[in-house]
Amino acid sequence: MSKAIIVYASTHHGNTRKVVEAIAKEFNVDVVDATMKHEMNLNEYDLIGFASGIYGGQFHQQVKNFAQVNLPQNKKIFYIMTSAMNRDFSKSMEESIKGKNAEVVGTFTCPGYNTFGPFKLIGGTAKGRPNEEDLHKAIEFFRTITVS
Ligand SMILES: Cc1cc2nc3c(=O)[nH]c(=O)nc-3n(C[C@H](O)[C@H](O)[C@H](O)COP(=O)(O)O)c2cc1C
Repeated sequence: MSKAIIVYASTHHGNTRKVVEAIAKEFNVDVVDATMKHEMNLNEYDLIGFASGIYGGQFHQQVKNFAQVNLPQNKKIFYIMTSAMNRDFSKSMEESIKGKNAEVVGTFTCPGYNTFGPFKLIGGTAKGRPNEEDLHKAIEFFRTITVS
């Protein structure tokens, strides 16, 4: 039985935490908040996920730091992100996993409610996201990467 963990930061509206919790409810996966815990031995894990809201086009600094400090060599990793633009911002993790020979086995992105700066004035964007369908897709995403 392979062992999985998701390391996350979700500081804006808890959007990313909702996605992570939906997965953790369905599967046997450990979860750690990178804004609370900064050092951890990840050797026992076969699959390591990094999950984050996107801030200025980047994964949260604490997720980046966590990966840089704690990611062992030769692990399978995956990315989960929520953002206003619902794009793949995982390139922002590249520097943090450099030299670790990590194999990226999947990337999941979904919209996340955003009230940053001027968007607050218009009631925010991506209101109500992630929604039930997004959470369902996240669960299916995780299922896919664990069977492969
Ligand atoms: C300071 C800040 C910067 C943001 N920058 C971006 C951005 O560059 N691109 C984007 O698509 N969304 C951006 N957003 C929107 C967030 O990525 C989105 O709301 C995300 O779901 C927040 O996740 P969280 O609630 O888990 O923290 C930004 C939000 C904040 C608060």
